[in-house]
Amino acid sequence: MNTQLSFASLAGIETELLAVLAADAQTSKAPDAKPQPVLLTADQAVFTAVAAVLAGGEYKAGANETLLLHAPAGLKAKRLLIVGLGKQAKTTVDKVRNAAGTAVRFSKPRGIRELVFALPVADDLSAERSARVAVEGAFVGDFDSDTYRSDRKDQSIKSFTLATPACAEKSSIETAFAEGVIVGESQNFTRSLVNEPGNKLTPTILGQRAAAMAAEVGLQCEVHSTEKLHELKMGAFWSVSQGSEEPPALIVMRYEPQGVTSGPILGLVGKGITFDSGGISLKPSDNMEKMKYDMAGGAAMIGAMRAIALLKPKVRVIGIVCASENMPDGKAQKPGDVQTAMSGKTIEIINTDAEGRLVLADGLSYARLLGATHLIDAATLTGACVVALGMINAGAFSNDDATYTKFESALATSGEKFWRLPLGEEYAEMIKSDIGDIKNTGGRWGGAITAAEFLKVFAEETPWIHLDIAGVAWVEDSKPYIAKGPSGIAVRSILEWVRSY
Ligand code: BES
Ligand code: MN
Ligand code: ZN
Repeated sequence: MNTQLSFASLAGIETELLAVLAADAQTSKAPDAKPQPVLLTADQAVFTAVAAVLAGGEYKAGANETLLLHAPAGLKAKRLLIVGLGKQAKTTVDKVRNAAGTAVRFSKPRGIRELVFALPVADDLSAERSARVAVEGAFVGDFDSDTYRSDRKDQSIKSFTLATPACAEKSSIETAFAEGVIVGESQNFTRSLVNEPGNKLTPTILGQRAAAMAAEVGLQCEVHSTEKLHELKMGAFWSVSQGSEEPPALIVMRYEPQGVTSGPILGLVGKGITFDSGGISLKPSDNMEKMKYDMAGGAAMIGAMRAIALLKPKVRVIGIVCASENMPDGKAQKPGDVQTAMSGKTIEIINTDAEGRLVLADGLSYARLLGATHLIDAATLTGACVVALGMINAGAFSNDDATYTKFESALATSGEKFWRLPLGEEYAEMIKSDIGDIKNTGGRWGGAITAAEFLKVFAEETPWIHLDIAGVAWVEDSKPYIAKGPSGIAVRSILEWVRSY
């Protein structure tokens, strides 16, 4: 998708489709109160073109509600699309992001390959933030997951133009817009990885994809396999990989900005299970096909590293992805086995399906060994987190309030929903083992928390955040602004967290 800014007046822009936002300004709660759509533009020609339709009262400017006009009078655009933001009093940048996605997804099936999106003009929206989220939303909307359909028609948008009022501060808008392009492309890069089925994206291939991306954007990247796992004594990681014909991949990406030789080193650690069958504790077949997305946390780290390399924050970052299959096999680990992690801690395997925490345990230890002063991990870790928070919020955990506060501030920019869940001694008790140090499951209750407690053991004293994205990494039903399929969750939040250092 080509992207550009235009500072021309809306009426004069020649395009297949001009999208303009509207909000509902109605504040009365009276039962007979009628919605009052207001256009978020200062362009008189647009007002005139839609005045009659809006007066008709059937268009309510609800969130992502659309209204299409062909050959709008007084405009050079072939079509004028009004996209609703919902209640004006509740206007947020997230709604602008979604509205841009809605405009793109409205265009795609109608054969429209080029559109212009008018930057909303409203007192409570900064032009810079709107510019960034609009282009992010356009990329999010442009993604579809049907890559292996032989009758696939390429409906992707060729050109997206953001029309900006001439009065706006040109250079700061340009900067914000360029940022949005990088973030949107990186999120889609993550989604394209998560979308791949297990046979097309083995740990080795994931490593190749990460290395190719790293070469493109100027990151250092090494991809190790079995030998290195043994050399580092990664007994927890290897215990998952030993049951698969496919070798594991330990992907290490490094971002080292010039001149930065002190200060924090941020360690990003992702779960990269390219297929999770459950291993010997085999999963039921219903929905097992979904477990191709069990590498979404790892893919989020790869996408975040891409964005970091291009946006160049002044902080060192190490990205580690522990990629493996989890398979049943004669060589697979068994419930009851005891494994020794890289840190030296012994782990009693209760359930081989609790594999994510095993690969992450050694990933966290390795990030610390490489000098990480702050850790963040992302993983499709537990079904229990989906039970707790549904498919709306992802779970978040931390052993350090100051570090978490920074993450929470990042959410205001990213617009992603994470909800902090507790940790505590009593939960840690639940994963004590009789035969060894800890066991890899803590029973049915509080499963997301005991999984986090397990990881905390390997974060040790290092400030750490754990993101459980099991419920939100895959969009189950299409929305006006995003296709069903991989969501690319956590890329934007991790990026903003990194930039806050
Ligand atoms: N990858 C799964 C978790 C998962 C569940 C991801 C649903 C996405 C959607 C993970 O490896 C797993 O199997 N967890 C088990 C842990 C249990 C055995 C303690 C679970 O949640 O059931
Ligand atoms: Mn599992
Ligand atoms: Zn898993």
